[in-house]
Parts: sequence; structure tokens; C-alpha cells
Amino acid sequence: MEKLFDTSKIVHDKIVRTMIKPLKKEEILKIIDAGSGKVSASILLKYFPKAHVDAVIFPGDNRKKNLIENSIDSDRIETMEADICTTTFRKQYDLCLIHLSLGEALHFNNSFENLFHHIMDIKADYFVLIDVWEDPCVHFRYIEQYLKEKGFKIIKKKKFRNPNPEHYPKFKYDKYKLEYDSKHFMAYTIKRLGEKA
Ligand SMILES: C[S@@+](CC[C@H](N)C(=O)[O-])C[C@H]1O[C@@H](n2cnc3c(N)ncnc32)[C@H](O)[C@@H]1O
Repeated sequence: MEKLFDTSKIVHDKIVRTMIKPLKKEEILKIIDAGSGKVSASILLKYFPKAHVDAVIFPGDNRKKNLIENSIDSDRIETMEADICTTTFRKQYDLCLIHLSLGEALHFNNSFENLFHHIMDIKADYFVLIDVWEDPCVHFRYIEQYLKEKGFKIIKKKKFRNPNPEHYPKFKYDKYKLEYDSKHFMAYTIKRLGEKA
């Protein structure tokens, strides 16, 4: 019997459920969770009961590794420690989830753009990208422009209110003065058009 973290009462569950509606669930068998954690990995295993999930975390990010290992018991998940910005993922995936990962680019000394480009180079047919609308490190206009220019189609776009906003205190990453409340989430379901990367 699989053990998953119970996500049924948190907004992230509803957001992912809404964003994966356009996908044919039975065809999604290979998934990569690009920037994983117990929440995103549990939601994926729950909504895609036949899929295998590669859960990627930054090397040595034990916060996430321990939480995944302590909350999830499943033979359908493999935790992989790899810096997405320096790793070539050779495997072909049906779906890539990017759940609150882009905001952490600077935390691991990568630029937002570099992390985003490398994620979009992952060979996946579909991407679901979700991040905090107010996070000054996540550039949504840049995301939309890049997708338009590089052969991706946004098939669903939706903004969600966060019923439990958190305050992020003043951190200073380079030129960004971070202080914000996570009042909304912005979400995209994206299809790769034509040739795979
Ligand atoms: C805020 S956590 C994401 C939470 C997770 N998606 C969830 O819903 O439970 C950010 C994740 O991105 C990962 N991450 C950030 N930069 C990365 C990089 N360059 N390569 C691989 N993982 C990265 C971190 O290790 C962490 O797992």
C-alpha cells in the first residue's frame, strides 16, 4: 500500500488538479517533478496513479529530500539529486511539473532565466508551471514571451487566490529585495509544439 502526504485540503492540490484537466491522464506515464518536495510529488502520484515520477532536488537539499522520504512510501518515485542548470536529462517525459521551483533559482546561485531555460529544455510533451504571482524573482512576462518564441503553446492559464498567504521577510538576493506576501499563484499548462528538445 502506497503512503502519500495528504494534500486534499491544500490549495496546491486544487491548482494542479485544475491545470491537468486538459491532459489525457492515462497517457501520462513518465513525469519529472523539476524542483520536488512532498507536496508536488504526492499530488503527482495521487492524480497519475499509473505514472512514475522522477523527483529532482538540488544536490544536498536535505530539507526536501528528508520530507519526501519521510512522507512518501511508493515504488513509483525516484529522488534524484541534480542541478537542473548543469544536467542533461536524456529521458523522454510525458509531463514536467515546475511547482514553486523558479523562485528558488537565486537561492542556489542560479539566475531565474538560466533555471527556466534549462527546465524548458527537458524533453517533455507537457509542462505545468505554478509559482507565486507576487514573487519578485519570478518573471511571468518573460515566461510568456519565451514560450511564444520557442515553440510552446500555453493551453491553459489561470490565476488562483491563496487562502493562506505567507509573508516572506526582507531577504536580499543580489538586486532583488525580497519582501512580499504570497497572495496569488499563477499557473500555466504548456504543450511543446513540433520537435522535442
Ligand atoms: C520551494 S521547493 C519546491 C517545492 C515542491 N515542488 C513541492 O511542491 O513540495 C524548490 C525546489 O526546487 C529545487 N531546486 C531549486 N533550484 C534547483 C536546481 N537548480 N536544480 C534542481 N533543483 C532545484 C529545490 O531543491 C527544491 O526541491
